[in-house]
Amino acid sequence: MSTFKAPKGTYDLLPPDSATYLAVREAIAAPLRGSGYGYIETPGFESVELFARGVGESTDIVTKEMYAFETKGGDRLALRPEGTASVLRAALEANLHKAGNLPVKLWYSGSYYRYERPQKGRYRHFSQVGAEAIGAEDPALDAELIILADQAYRSLGLRNFRILLNSLGDKECRPVYREALQTFLRGLDLDEDTLRRAEINPLRVLDDKRESVQKQLGDAPLLRDYLCDACKAYHEEVRELVTAAGVVFEDDPKLVRGLDYYTRTTFEFVHDGLGSQSAVGGGGRYDGLSEMIGGPALPSVGWALGVDRTVLALEAEGVELELPATTSVFAVPLGDEARRVLFAKVTEMRKNGVAADFAYGGKGLKAAMKAANRSGARYALILGERDIEQGVVQLKDLESGEQTAVGMNEIVAELESRLG
Ligand code: HAM
Repeated sequence: MSTFKAPKGTYDLLPPDSATYLAVREAIAAPLRGSGYGYIETPGFESVELFARGVGESTDIVTKEMYAFETKGGDRLALRPEGTASVLRAALEANLHKAGNLPVKLWYSGSYYRYERPQKGRYRHFSQVGAEAIGAEDPALDAELIILADQAYRSLGLRNFRILLNSLGDKECRPVYREALQTFLRGLDLDEDTLRRAEINPLRVLDDKRESVQKQLGDAPLLRDYLCDACKAYHEEVRELVTAAGVVFEDDPKLVRGLDYYTRTTFEFVHDGLGSQSAVGGGGRYDGLSEMIGGPALPSVGWALGVDRTVLALEAEGVELELPATTSVFAVPLGDEARRVLFAKVTEMRKNGVAADFAYGGKGLKAAMKAANRSGARYALILGERDIEQGVVQLKDLESGEQTAVGMNEIVAELESRLG
């Protein structure tokens, strides 16, 4: 053990478990790649102002959870707490929206940082894979994203997740609802902090997890009853398209999200085996965000799925992913001359696409064979002095235990054909 530990609220991803994380990222990315989303990578930090304006000045993410700092040059930066604002900033900066091909569809994968109270499923450093479709107002796009997330979770073997769907209205109808909700909240028995929140961002009060608050919200007005005709029609079409794809969802008229940029479609993927941190992913439409960060009107929609929580969901359902073996062949040299010869063979195998590893550190036969078994390789290649004289190498099938001598010049082709 060293003097240092991973910072509070973080953990290290180590083999063999780390392979599951890679597989989860890949499973989420695969349907996106196959649906016209291009890969984007943005910096791990951005101007504080981008998140303050984008995510929302009054959100917990911005007021309490940002890792914000000032650089030696005097810039105010923050580690990214989420991906949407950065991706939109990057797309605008590169004028992707002007290339005449809207929507711009992008996917990303990376680390995000929130100074939250750590608990199982809630970390200060976590991973998301996300997708954003920028610059089109089309219910089919909202539906596409919901369907692709469903497909990703199902391809991983997850079954016990639910999709919650709501519409948050737009700049026409939301203000009317906001007023009605505020009037209702002012009449409740709420502490000062909550009353203040009701004035700044009343929708967030609906998301208050405390029982004392929830039990007073039974008769709260619902946004559903205030949606304007355009929002209603839009939402109905999203619902129809998702349903037609055979994807089951639940209407959740109380669903609100922790970020302020959402308009119209909002959704969350929750997993019932995860306790309080049950949201494995979430997203929605953000038609006004571009203008909020100084761009033109670009109605957009997206989601981000949490990799950490998806892995926990797999554990909760007892799903074991079939992970491809990383090493197919493990080479065991006996003696110095064998070491040189076999090392060259390993290099040749790797160039030919055979995944191979080597017994490093001058191990004896017993320890080296143990390492071969632990590596998960299908075959061991053993080379002793007599083998060198005879121009062969011993090929041992680690599953059946069968061992055969194969000519040194034929071994690479032999392995290629055996491994398919
Ligand atoms: P979000 O709901 O804040 O949305 O995060 C999406 C997912 O990231 C969550 O459902 C959860 O799985 C994971 N996550 C968030 N915070 C933590 C944490 N502290 N520890 C572990 N996992 C966490 C967004 O970030 C939006 N940018 C999504 C989006 C994209 N909306 C439109 N486009």
